[in-house]
Amino acid sequence: MTPLVEFRSVAKAFGNEKVFEEISFTIVEGESHALLGPSGCGKSTVLRLLAGLDQPNAGKILIEGKLVSDDAKCLVAPHERQLAMVFQDLALWPDLTALENVMLGMAQLKLARSGRRAKALSSLATCGIENLASRKPREASVGQQQRIALARALAGRPKLLLLDEPFSGLDAVIKRKLFQEIETHCVNFGITLLLVTHDSWEATGLCSHAVVIEDGHVAEHGRLCDVLRQPASIILRSFVSQWPSSLMRS
Ligand SMILES: Nc1ncnc2c1ncn2[C@@H]1O[C@H](COP(=O)(O)OP(=O)(O)OP(=O)(O)O)[C@@H](O)[C@H]1O
Ligand SMILES: [Mg+2]
Repeated sequence: MTPLVEFRSVAKAFGNEKVFEEISFTIVEGESHALLGPSGCGKSTVLRLLAGLDQPNAGKILIEGKLVSDDAKCLVAPHERQLAMVFQDLALWPDLTALENVMLGMAQLKLARSGRRAKALSSLATCGIENLASRKPREASVGQQQRIALARALAGRPKLLLLDEPFSGLDAVIKRKLFQEIETHCVNFGITLLLVTHDSWEATGLCSHAVVIEDGHVAEHGRLCDVLRQPASIILRSFVSQWPSSLMRS
């Protein structure tokens, strides 16, 4: 089966500073992956490379078997990669309302304006913030802004949803509700998830698989319930000490 995502020996440096030298992993369609590792190991960089917002120095990135980046060459533009991303800093347009922000995320759906509006409202409702449709981001709390960014990403019906620590401002009750909505949305619309998080509860609550980056390479990769049996990385060892294995998703 062709993987949805494949990183083949991807290297990335900023100037003389190497982030990683050899990152390789695959994601099969429908498998939700947590991307884990210490701060600064390159998790956001992996998402930006996959989204086409940065280019690797070497290596290949494939989406659905199609080469999208080859060494430093971008072969498929970001807007043609059929993915959506919630950035760590959210990247909302400050002068647009929540509804307008979400509608911008749907440009590629080629719907009439009324259809886009209805779908954008429905996406805001999925994230529990339809009442904020006419507010600008600065008129919303940080947690509400995170949900606007999530609504924008979901509304575009991507094949691949990249989430960069999108839940850090939310309380456990809202997170639980959002997890259910995201899971339903992913199943209904065939969306595959790649979630960056430092939080064991988020990773195990939303993801079936994990990729762990440590010291510039993939330290562990597999089903969470498998890698958590004998964790080799610092981060997964810390998860095991926090959570009983009976709570892990199979
Ligand atoms: N545009 C940039 N220019 C120079 N260095 C950068 C740039 N973006 C990231 N870096 C560096 O690359 C490394 C990886 O950054 P990245 O943001 O991917 O880490 P991360 O794993 O997402 O960290 P965190 O968990 O803190 O968000 C860091 O050392 C960072 O300083
Ligand atoms: Mg980051």
